[in-house]
Amino acid sequence: MSIGEKIQEIRLNMAKGYLVGVDIGLSAVKIAVMAEGKKGSYRLEAYESFPLSEASIIEDEVQKPEEIINAIQTILKKNGIKRKIACLGMDGPNTVTKRLQVPDGDKEEVEDNIFWESEQYIPFGADDAQIGFSIIGRNEDEDVVDAIVGAVKIDVAEKYMEYLKEAGLHTRVVDLNIFAVNNVFELCFHDQLEDISEEGAIIIDLGAQYTSLMVYRGGGPILTKEINLGGVLITEEIQRSMGVSYEEAEDLKVNGDDNGNLPEEIISILEAHINRLVEELKKVLNFYIAAGSSEQVSHCFITGGGAQIPGIKDALQDLTDIEVEDINPLEILEIKGSFSESELEELAYRGAVAVGLAMRRVD
Ligand SMILES: Nc1ncnc2c1ncn2[C@@H]1O[C@H](COP(=O)(O)OP(=O)(O)OP(=O)(O)O)[C@@H](O)[C@H]1O
Ligand SMILES: [Mg+2]
Repeated sequence: MSIGEKIQEIRLNMAKGYLVGVDIGLSAVKIAVMAEGKKGSYRLEAYESFPLSEASIIEDEVQKPEEIINAIQTILKKNGIKRKIACLGMDGPNTVTKRLQVPDGDKEEVEDNIFWESEQYIPFGADDAQIGFSIIGRNEDEDVVDAIVGAVKIDVAEKYMEYLKEAGLHTRVVDLNIFAVNNVFELCFHDQLEDISEEGAIIIDLGAQYTSLMVYRGGGPILTKEINLGGVLITEEIQRSMGVSYEEAEDLKVNGDDNGNLPEEIISILEAHINRLVEELKKVLNFYIAAGSSEQVSHCFITGGGAQIPGIKDALQDLTDIEVEDINPLEILEIKGSFSESELEELAYRGAVAVGLAMRRVD
């Protein structure tokens, strides 16, 4: 590393304020940038989603790094984003979360206790993991703290950080996408959060590659889980059965045919997908949706592009027997400047992760 680079690194490390939120999903790279709004709220400075082509990521392995780098660079340039310090979101099998209770003590002791206790829950090995945590509460009577731990496989995160670096961003924080959704959710439902937290909620992010879900109770997530089912399977099925390209299939699915109608063939593919997803969710959530279970939850919230699939909400409602509500990040943002209607709509249903990541700051 040259001295010039070293100085650059030091400067970057001293930079303060909001981080550039970078969500690298299977269908698109999404970037959000926040500024200080009125009364401690968040003002949206920039948001953009840049679509990725077919198979640019396969099972967390980036197949076309140049495409990811180009997407980031294009978004930064087009939106005049000058900030260079990023919060990178991760998900998939190279990440894990665990809710823990450990003995209370001073800051260092608690930290040691959490790291010690969490090691056994990391499937890819604690030595290869970067571990972070957040304290959710303290139980003074029992002298324990309640924490949620997140871990990510270091070499995978480093690869992604390398792409960001090539695009001109320095990664300061690596966060988990599901935590980003959690933070947006908590702000969106701030006024009812105490009740929701007591009654329990299921939060689902329906992506292209994964369906991530979380059970929220007692001030934070108690369980997170990723299911290997997402919208790209529908796209691939449309490609196969209708003999069209990935882009055409994606367009047909989202926008319908020339008249804006969904062809019969697609409707049945969507139905089959919904059924499959509901079956998988049922297995994971069995405990939480069974009537009479002491673990039963009373709320269900969804986000992600897949939440737009016609019929998905009704199917989830039937499964859980609770009303399904959208998480809309627009509700917590002050919007100033020039955002088009379609950009804001995009952000509302697909931007929760990027927004949550962009809410992180360094002081
Ligand atoms: N109107 C719609 N109908 C059906 N599917 C839709 C619609 N709009 C978006 N989708 C699907 O949602 C998916 C994109 O959602 P999202 O941006 O949340 O995923 P992602 O973050 O890229 O994926 P992942 O998090 O799994 O890596 C795509 O599969 C897309 O086809
Ligand atoms: Mg996603």
